[in-house]
Formats: sequence, C-alpha cells, structure tokens
Amino acid sequence: MNAQTLCGVRILGTGSAAPEGRLTNADFEKMLDTSDEWIVQRTGIRERRVLDLDKGNGLTLAHEALQNAIDAAGIQGSEIDLVICATVTSVMTCPSTAARVAAEVGATGAAAFDVGAACSGFVYAINLADSIVRAGRAKTVAVIGVDAMTSIIDYADRTCSILFGDAAGAVILRADPNPELGCIYQHMGADGSGWHALYIPRYEKDIPACDSENKTRLGCLRMNGKEVFKFAVTKFREVIEDALAKTNLQPADISQFVCHQSNIRIIDAARERIGLDPSQVYVNIDKYGNSSAGSVPLCLDQLWRAGKITPGKPFVLVAFGGGLTWASSVWRI
Ligand code: UT7
Repeated sequence: MNAQTLCGVRILGTGSAAPEGRLTNADFEKMLDTSDEWIVQRTGIRERRVLDLDKGNGLTLAHEALQNAIDAAGIQGSEIDLVICATVTSVMTCPSTAARVAAEVGATGAAAFDVGAACSGFVYAINLADSIVRAGRAKTVAVIGVDAMTSIIDYADRTCSILFGDAAGAVILRADPNPELGCIYQHMGADGSGWHALYIPRYEKDIPACDSENKTRLGCLRMNGKEVFKFAVTKFREVIEDALAKTNLQPADISQFVCHQSNIRIIDAARERIGLDPSQVYVNIDKYGNSSAGSVPLCLDQLWRAGKITPGKPFVLVAFGGGLTWASSVWRI
C-alpha cells in the first residue's frame, strides 16, 4: 500500500487461546520443595495452562488465537496485509511464527515477521502496527502475542518454574478515516545492561560469571527474581505515570490498565502507588500464570469480550520483561 495522509486505527476484533492442560500449585507440591501457600502469597498464582508438546506448540496457539480474532472481526484471512507476532518461543528461529501462521489463516502474500521483546513483545508489536497503519503502509494488520513458556522451563528450578504458563492473544487492526481512533500515545524502552536478569542461554559460554552458580539447564529460562522484581515495580509505576502525564489523563479517565501478568505483588504495588481502583486493573494471573508475550493480549481479549473496553474511555497496555524491556500503549476505540 502507498503512503497516504495519516489516518486512525480501529480494532476490528480480538482473540485468544490457552491450552486445556493445567498445572496447579498442588501439582508443584508433588514435584518440588514448595507449597501452595508460598506460591499464592509470593506470586498470586494458583494454576497455569500447559501445552501437551506432543499435540501442540506456540504455533498452534498463535493460529487458534488469530483465527478467533479473524472470526470476531468478521473478515477473511486474505484481507490481512501484515502479520506481526511477538514471541520468544518460536518453534524455529527461521521461519518466523508470523509467516507460518499467516499461511494457516489464508493471509498468503501478507508481510510477516516476529518481534522479540519478551514479555513486552505484544505491546511493542501493537505500537509498531499502529504506526505502520497510520503511515499508510498497511491497511489490515494482525498482531499476535504468544509464548509456549513451559517448553523452555527447567522444572527443577523452583523459583522460575512456578511462574510461567502458555497462552496466546491476537488483535485485528484496520485503517480508519477517524484519526482520533487507535494508539494516542506509546512509549518503548530497553536497558540491555540488565540482560542477565532474564535470559535463555544456548551454550555454557553464554552464561555470565554473575550467574555461574545458577543450576538451570541450558536452553531454559534463567532468572534473577529479585532483580527483575525491583526493576518491574519501579518501571510499572514510571511507565503508567508517563502515559497519563503525556496524554493529560487522570487515572479515573482510563477504563482499564491491561498489565503484563508477572506477579500480583508487582501489579498491586504499582496500582497502590498510583492510586488506581482495583476494578481498573485486570488480573488473571491466578488462573494463567505469566505467559510472557501472551499475557497482555490474553487479558485484552478477555476484557474486550466482557465489554469492559468501551468507546467512552481510553485503555492502557503496560508491560515489562527480558531485555530488559518495557512498553506502554494508550488506546482510544
Ligand atoms: O515477566 C517477567 C518475569 N519474571 C518476573 O516477573 C519475576 C519477578 N520476581 C518475582 O516474582 C519474585 O522475585 C519471585 C516470585 C520469583 C520470588 O519471590 P521472592 O519473594 O523474591 O523470593 P526470594 O527469591 O527472595 O526467595 C525467598 C525464599 C528463598 O529461601 P531462603 O534463601 O530465604 O531460605 C528461596 O529459596 O523463598 C525460597 N523460594 C521458594 N520457596 C518455596 C524460592 N522459590 C520458592 C518456591 N517455593 N517455589
């Protein structure tokens, strides 16, 4: 599509997918030296969804979420001209998950690529999609966030393994003549100096000296929980305050803060410091755990289908994660 005057962006539909399989805190009590009480108090998680890797993977979850979004949008896959997929668990590094999912839904010929910004990935991807549509370079864009986290977890690591689950979410965006619609403010950032707080090494030589005591298996996610926790609590608050200040909005003007589900204590700390009402901050971590790039779009789809995202008030997407990365996105529908 040729560049044209700046337009707005409409959300046509949303979708999500999570596997049937559940891993409960009681299951962890049987596998590891842990307890339901510790996990609930320290994280807010009660169960997570787990793929049966003999039957599915991130690709199948992404496909299901995108098909649900296409059906909700009432369009054909062939109308999509760009697919952006946020993931750190692509089945293969090449080809991208985006290219394969595009083919599955009949969007053959659409541009397709993956974004790697860990748990911030979906917010990065939707920010990028909005900017591309506004610039007139694409008309109908599918944005997916998916992670099959349980495929990269070492289940002997009790601090990390209890946090993560598998899920995907997707959104269909379309150019709209009303420039007021779509992302009215976005911010993305990264600080690579903190990379070793959350990473997936391929080889022994990838492991920095500061993490040499960590016994997590190669190829699995390694995390310095305390460091990520400190970063997240500060960044969540900063990112939300920045988004409100830059848009001249008050907390009460926002319908929903759709936050990355990493730890209930991280979400609550930001909510309390900023003075947000609990009804404005959606939480599903108790049932899904942290699904990385799947977490924000899964929440968005659940809120969208429940009618909690309305034209009257903007909503805000907020995430942070490996990189270290962070991102916000304020939307008017
Ligand atoms: O998307 C971003 C992904 N990552 C995150 O958001 C993680 C952010 N960090 C966190 O959520 C928290 O740091 C954790 C939930 C990972 C850990 O909670 P914490 O309150 O920071 O615990 P801790 O690491 O300070 O550990 C406290 C104790 C330790 O025992 P000692 O050394 O005090 O005897 C741990 O060994 O809790 C122990 N512990 C556990 N005990 C029971 C660690 N994991 C477990 C466990 N069950 N699963």
